[in-house]
Amino acid sequence: MKTVAIYSTKGGVGKTTTAVNLAWEASHECRVLLWDLDPQGAATYLLNVKAKVKGGVDSLIRGKSHVDAVIRPTAYKNLDVLPADDTYRNLDLFLDSAKKSTQRIAKVLESVSNQYDVVILDCPPGASLVAENALHAADLAVVPLGPSPLSLRSLAQVNEIIAASDRPPKVFAFLSMVDRRKLVHRFTAEALPREHPEVIDLVVPATVVIERMGTERAPIGTYAPNTEAAQVFAQLWGHVRASSKVKLGARRG
Ligand SMILES: Nc1ncnc2c1ncn2[C@@H]1O[C@H](COP(=O)(O)OP(=O)(O)O)[C@@H](O)[C@H]1O
Ligand SMILES: [Mg+2]
Repeated sequence: MKTVAIYSTKGGVGKTTTAVNLAWEASHECRVLLWDLDPQGAATYLLNVKAKVKGGVDSLIRGKSHVDAVIRPTAYKNLDVLPADDTYRNLDLFLDSAKKSTQRIAKVLESVSNQYDVVILDCPPGASLVAENALHAADLAVVPLGPSPLSLRSLAQVNEIIAASDRPPKVFAFLSMVDRRKLVHRFTAEALPREHPEVIDLVVPATVVIERMGTERAPIGTYAPNTEAAQVFAQLWGHVRASSKVKLGARRG
């Protein structure tokens, strides 16, 4: 089982969008669990899963409830969700009061390591203990960057945080929400991959097709499979699979 954290210190850069579409792409090839770590529960919502964790995330973190009891299936074969609910607002506090407080998420995942080939962590923004846990558990961190000169600053910040992790994952970044009509977006999309080896040459366009996810409550590939956006997420999955060396296990069903 490989664990991939979709991570940035910034909010609104496309983490959840990436997590959901990547998970759906991956589920065509292997068994996937998406863990929604953000109390806003956007990934849970977008995959049409009820935002309810029986016993709360506190019980899960302390090993009082088993992860199998809170994982939910989605409408898609081989794609399950560990949903977020309101109790995730205090996840940092729960982690802080637990033993080995940076390793709790990894510990929870150990118990499902035979059931999934890939776990995708949809991280909240920031550099909290939740983020530390996610980075500790991850084999690979995938960082969406907004197409502005400021994105270099957030990439540097993310690199610093990852380097300080007690078990640093591999990392790559890509540009998200690129509007090619804007000069600064085109410039950033060309310059960043050239100048920074950890930025891959793959660009997620800014498009209404992606915004529609909120009303469709479904991955793009299900309602707009022939769009550039859908194709880019398929390519992104290819990068993730190669970088994290996911073993393609037996699919269920
Ligand atoms: N490439 C894109 N084009 C247009 N809208 C996007 C794109 N990526 C994300 N969005 C929209 O921007 C908002 C923030 O995206 P989201 O994935 O939730 O970011 P994060 O998880 O980093 O906070 C959402 O409303 C989403 O629909
Ligand atoms: Mg999000």
